Parts: sequence; structure tokens; C-alpha cells
Amino acid sequence: MPKVTFYPTGKSGEVPREMSLLDAAEKLGVILHHDCGGFATCSTCRILIVEGTTHLSEIDLDEENMLEEAELSAPFRLSCQTKILGDVVARIPDQQMKWSKEALQELEDHTAETREIVRIIVEARSRKRGLSIVDRSTATLLLDDAKAQVDRVGENPAGLAALIKQAYGES
Ligand code: FES
Repeated sequence: MPKVTFYPTGKSGEVPREMSLLDAAEKLGVILHHDCGGFATCSTCRILIVEGTTHLSEIDLDEENMLEEAELSAPFRLSCQTKILGDVVARIPDQQMKWSKEALQELEDHTAETREIVRIIVEARSRKRGLSIVDRSTATLLLDDAKAQVDRVGENPAGLAALIKQAYGES
């Protein structure tokens, strides 16, 4: 059976092939919002694939449309639409990490996709420092560097995934 790992908690386990990432998260006790109930109409179940993009079902038209509406593309997927075909490492939004209004304002000039990736990197680094809130001082410390890294990688999904892995200290 394929093995699935979810960041940021690192919860991991084997799940049946063809199970959706959303169902796998629930099976492993990982909380993942899914406001529309799995009908590809909300994008709250978005997930970022860190490893194993080729071990997943193809993106169908419904998923593609919803991702486009949310201004996201690979390595992001909708977990309710994505079937697991092999080992996968994925990152779900960090439910515990809070952002101050000032820190969020720092992200405003960027596209939705860049914002998501920068947030992931900053949150992973904040977690490592034992922080549960990204405030203005944390943002000042971490944001510029994270933004520069994302800009350097551009839209290369493999490069973005490598950045995420690195932020979690896996490579
Ligand atoms: S739960 Fe709404 S798109 Fe997946």
C-alpha cells in the first residue's frame, strides 16, 4: 500500500491505492478543511505536493478550473480530487500557526501562489523556532529571505517542492 506523509505534523501511514488525499488525511487523523464536501467547488482542501507528484491521479477539468480560480497550479492540488497511486509527501495549511495583520500585509504585493509558498516557508521556520504566531518582527526576519528564495525558483514545481522540503529540514 502507498505511504502518505503530511506536513507540518509529519503524520504518516499506509493507505489503500486510489484513496483520495482528503480521505487519507482523515484516516490518519490530520485535520484538513473541505468546505464543499469534496465537490471541487471551494479549494479549501488545497494541498501542496512536496514529493511524489507522479504518484497521483491526473488533474481533471473540475480540479483544474477550481485551482485556476484560486490562482494556484502545480505543485498544488485539491486533496478531495487527487487519488493516491504511490508514496506521497504533502503539506497541508498549518492550522495552528497564526499571522498578525501587519505580517500578512507584507505579503500583499505577491500573487496568490507566491503568497502560499512564502507562508509555508515562514511557517515551517517559525515552527522550528518554537513560535506559534508570525508577527511583524518574525516577518521582518524571515519574509524577505523566503520571498527571495521563491523568486529565484520562479514557477518550477520541483524547485518549489525542494524549498518546502528544505524548510522542514528534510534535505
Ligand atoms: S473540498 Fe472543496 S474543493 Fe475539495
